[in-house]
Amino acid sequence: MASLKSGSLKARLKRALQSRPMLWDVYWRTKQELLRFGLLRYYLYDIKHTYQAMHWPTGHKARQTLSSALLFQYHKLEKGLVMPGKRRFFGADPADAAMKMMHRWQAVGYELDDPVYLGAIETLRGYRERLRENSLDPEDKVSSRLDHFLSRCNVAVAALSTPQKLAELQMTHSSAETAFRALVESRRSVRDYRPDPVPDAILREAVRMAQLSPSACNRQPWRVYLVSDDERKQQLLSYQNGNRGFGHLAPHIAIVTADEQSFFDASERHEPYIDGGLFSMSFILALSAQGVGSCCLNWCVPPAKDKAVHRLFDLPESQRIVMLIAIGYAPENCMVPRSPRRDTQAVLIPL
Ligand SMILES: Cc1cc2nc3c(=O)[nH]c(=O)nc-3n(C[C@H](O)[C@H](O)[C@H](O)COP(=O)(O)O)c2cc1C
Repeated sequence: MASLKSGSLKARLKRALQSRPMLWDVYWRTKQELLRFGLLRYYLYDIKHTYQAMHWPTGHKARQTLSSALLFQYHKLEKGLVMPGKRRFFGADPADAAMKMMHRWQAVGYELDDPVYLGAIETLRGYRERLRENSLDPEDKVSSRLDHFLSRCNVAVAALSTPQKLAELQMTHSSAETAFRALVESRRSVRDYRPDPVPDAILREAVRMAQLSPSACNRQPWRVYLVSDDERKQQLLSYQNGNRGFGHLAPHIAIVTADEQSFFDASERHEPYIDGGLFSMSFILALSAQGVGSCCLNWCVPPAKDKAVHRLFDLPESQRIVMLIAIGYAPENCMVPRSPRRDTQAVLIPL
């Protein structure tokens, strides 16, 4: 009753305003501004996330945080090893920091055959070798500690030894340019799907290939949550607008996320989306290379929907959703939009 009354009051007020064009104009503009202002709460949501997940508390408790911190440190050594000028001393601080984190890794009891951990050993080895070969540490700023640490690491994984020759990588992929051109020129967003699922091995291989994407300090914050159950897929899609008319046909929907715990602080607030976006592109191409169609689905949703999907799939809060991706085989005679691209001259701007 009360709402009926207020409803009619609202309608009468509205009519009164409409009969005075100037007042109506002020009312309308103010309303639009207030609505726009209200959307600032999206930023508040981001601020909360950035503060909670990216502000590293001392101790690096979460595994993702510790492995990212370790990658961050030993990546400085990896980079130093490939830069011109072999006769310069570098890296004592990151080497010490890496060893400290590896001790913590051991203390917590994480697996010692984890590729991130093994990669750290091989990098420290490569670094120690460089110091020795070029007599770069006559004052023993870090060499003894490295020798002591490495003497207790009795694993050696040649496949992870670093650095490696770019030419060797390129020789094994000499037809890369033709293959890549064919790949990017044949991929298009698919909005019609056959019902048959994509075999696990193909999906897994696509993820493996996508994992070769670059990421800030090689921290690899990405995850792919794969939803293939019909009911759960429909629930997920109900939170996203851009899939209407075709999303329900896709046998799989991937939720691509990036873990905020991989990043230091607010200065890195955009990194989850940058690294997650690069990963997504590679993932889509890797699917396409194996004959699997896909369509990115934007995750431009209000905080309430983002929270609801986290709850629905029990996703940790620190996993930021980068996008959804519809995945499946395109049917025969599938049509796709031409989707013209801008003139390259307008994109490439020599300065
Ligand atoms: C982040 C992102 C979000 C997208 N969201 C949607 C979406 O919600 N629905 C849709 O049909 N297409 C979506 N797309 C696909 C684009 O419309 C498509 O990539 C673009 O038009 C170029 O066409 P192409 O992928 O066929 O080359 C999205 C693409 C990206 C990169």
